[in-house]
Amino acid sequence: MGFIRNMTCRRRATVLMPTIRKFIVKGDKVLDVGCDTGTMSLEVKRGTGCLLDCTDFTNVLKHPLPFIDKPEMGKYDKVLLIDVLHHIIESEQVNVVKYWERFGKVIIIDTEPTMTAYLVDLFNEVGGMPTPYTFRTLEGWELALPDYKIEKVKTSRLYPLKHLIMVQK
Ligand SMILES: C[S@@+](CC[C@H](N)C(=O)[O-])C[C@H]1O[C@@H](n2cnc3c(N)ncnc32)[C@H](O)[C@@H]1O
Repeated sequence: MGFIRNMTCRRRATVLMPTIRKFIVKGDKVLDVGCDTGTMSLEVKRGTGCLLDCTDFTNVLKHPLPFIDKPEMGKYDKVLLIDVLHHIIESEQVNVVKYWERFGKVIIIDTEPTMTAYLVDLFNEVGGMPTPYTFRTLEGWELALPDYKIEKVKTSRLYPLKHLIMVQK
């Protein structure tokens, strides 16, 4: 299970990296919220040259990255939430975003509601991750987060998921 998750995470990172590089640059102090095993965190750190700290409910990092239990407010240039929000119930999603805005400028990447996205998360749920399937469309996020600039991430036709990037204005 871990091997497959690791592999799909690396593929996702390859697809997302050109977009992430537009918003995170070398030397940025970045907090990766909801880092899980840190596979994506490591890709972001390597792909951008940023200084990256990780945080989550518990430390399950599988890579040599700094895990911060209680991050410091205002310490970061950017706060990343990659595929975290659709693991949170709908009524709490905006509160979570507002909370993390106190730590730095928030950049969110989340997945659009497609059949493949539901299937991938069914797999996550079997793996023990809380999965309420609270995906939103671009229009749905625009209503929920009016002070964010939201765009679709460019992907190839062969790639099965669709992603949105939302950057705090
Ligand atoms: C699907 S994993 C994403 C891991 C990684 N960001 C990635 O893109 O591969 C979702 C993670 O979000 C974390 N998470 C869920 N709700 C959270 C919250 N309110 N605050 C911080 N992390 C949260 C979970 O513990 C889990 O590790």
